[in-house]
Amino acid sequence: MKKLLLVVGGQSTEHTISRMSGTSVYRELDVQKYVITVAGIDQKGDWYLLSDQVSDFTSEDWLAEATPVHDVYALLKRQDVIFPVLHGLYGEDGTIQGLFELSQVPYVGCRVLGSSLAMDKIFTKKIFEQAGIPQVPSLYVKKRIDGRLVVVDDMMNEHTHYADYIVEKLGLPVFVKPSNSGSSVGVYQATSKEDLVEKLEAASRYDHKIVVEKSIDCIELETAVLGNDDPQVSAVGQIMPHGEFYTFESKYEDEESKTCIPALVDQAIQEKIRQYALRAFQAIDGHGLSRVDFFLDKQTGAIYLNEINTMPGFTNISMYPQLWIHAGMTYSELLDRLIELALEIH
Ligand SMILES: Nc1ncnc2c1ncn2[C@@H]1O[C@H](COP(=O)(O)OP(=O)(O)O)[C@@H](O)[C@H]1O
Ligand SMILES: [Mg+2]
Repeated sequence: MKKLLLVVGGQSTEHTISRMSGTSVYRELDVQKYVITVAGIDQKGDWYLLSDQVSDFTSEDWLAEATPVHDVYALLKRQDVIFPVLHGLYGEDGTIQGLFELSQVPYVGCRVLGSSLAMDKIFTKKIFEQAGIPQVPSLYVKKRIDGRLVVVDDMMNEHTHYADYIVEKLGLPVFVKPSNSGSSVGVYQATSKEDLVEKLEAASRYDHKIVVEKSIDCIELETAVLGNDDPQVSAVGQIMPHGEFYTFESKYEDEESKTCIPALVDQAIQEKIRQYALRAFQAIDGHGLSRVDFFLDKQTGAIYLNEINTMPGFTNISMYPQLWIHAGMTYSELLDRLIELALEIH
């Protein structure tokens, strides 16, 4: 029996999603194989040990019977393996992975570099460009400490008339996204120059780095990577968003938003996507798992890599586990495999 620490919650805008994912993982972990301790992190960043009685971490009083953890490091050191089911900042961005590295306890998922790269849309774009993976034309807008917005070009020159610069280079409409966004929080479409200024201000509340992208009329396709040095890639799944685009609401609250596995697009396109996904995972020095998301341009048929998620949504109906279930694995077997991959590294 392995002593396993499941970590859920966290300080990011995706706190509640982590509690949904974590609940599914907890219910499906094989109790014959693991002695499970659950650590809950609240939105302030405080750690708690959950009572054995709590198995639904989505309930409002999930921390009611919990005991505060005063020495997080000592808690980590007592484990054989750590499973962080955390999305977004301070969970999926390399910071907590750094703590796990210091503790020298094996943990599920990407290491420090892969996690932090994948969390930052600006920097992943640079890596993927070098790896020859096609991406939507984009610009990097920075909010300086003095509050001014500027476009930063590839040579690191700053352009003050950012709205004119963006419209000239990308046209309209564009998508505006905080560089560290997740679950579509702070993601907006801008349709005019005035709208663009407004949406950039809104996005800059989430991060000082903002991505502006040409808006693509697209089909959204996702694939799952699993492994360390010789990763496997799943079939391709398709998102059927109900609504304007794949917003936070359509992801988690809209019953009409559906997924379809395998995707309803040409086999050749799916094969290309699977190749790019593997290359993307290797380009960020991925470990364990990642979901890699693509756009297929409805007008031109061009494929673009949109983003890589190192801790994708993990409820039983989430795309990542569903893609492996489609491949013949059970959800519990997938968890076992992820834990095996974590133990393989140390
Ligand atoms: N350039 C774009 N063109 C069209 N739709 C986009 C574009 N960028 C983002 N979107 C829409 O916004 C959603 C969220 O953007 P994404 O980059 O995936 O951020 P997040 O990390 O928050 O999921 C996408 O799933 C898609 O529906
Ligand atoms: Mg996304």
